[in-house]
Amino acid sequence: MPATPRILVFAGSVRSGAFSGKTADAAQKALALQGAEVTRISLLDYPLPIYDQDLEKEEGIPESAMKLARLFASHDGVLIATPEYNGSVPPLLKNTIDWLSRVRRDGDKELKPLTGKVVAICSSSEGQFAGIRAINHLRAILQRCQMEVTMPECSVPRGGEAFDDKGDFRDERLQQTMERVASALIEQSALTAGMQR
Ligand SMILES: Cc1cc2nc3c(=O)[nH]c(=O)nc-3n(C[C@H](O)[C@H](O)[C@H](O)COP(=O)(O)O)c2cc1C
Repeated sequence: MPATPRILVFAGSVRSGAFSGKTADAAQKALALQGAEVTRISLLDYPLPIYDQDLEKEEGIPESAMKLARLFASHDGVLIATPEYNGSVPPLLKNTIDWLSRVRRDGDKELKPLTGKVVAICSSSEGQFAGIRAINHLRAILQRCQMEVTMPECSVPRGGEAFDDKGDFRDERLQQTMERVASALIEQSALTAGMQR
């Protein structure tokens, strides 16, 4: 088993001050405190056109999707923090997953970035329901992509009030849940990585 699992962390929103971004930051902190090597990215740096099968046929997989696919492959686990749009995952996140699901090769090497990859999920929202409808959809989508979704999950209600000035949760129970999310992800990632090495 690797001594230090490598974990990739990102949010499904690129809005400045996004609650899902703050949730991803809290996850990054919890993971790092438990000894993981964390790469925190923003999807802003991986712009992708809306998925279109004709576009893929004509132009292939966009370079941003290939870069993300390589990042997935070079990490032992992933953590995604989703916002909730109309009871589901936002288009930015779904579109990113759709492109990643189309990656099969990188040059002459097989590259299936999602298959078998361990992933932890979190959600957040402005309101009291904490994005639980979105997290249910996200779990189903990722499982459909043959990812290994860990439990527990962390859903953050009332994102506008949930974090203090340092970005820590005001609610101690949320902090404890995030710590459990981090430890389960680290444990599962290390196991899966160990089996692959
Ligand atoms: C198009 C749209 C749809 C939304 N739908 C929901 C919803 O279904 N449930 C919810 O709790 N909040 C909903 N919201 C409010 C979001 O929780 C809020 O805008 C949140 O800040 C977005 O996530 P972010 O802070 O990570 O960018 C919606 C916001 C937008 C822009």
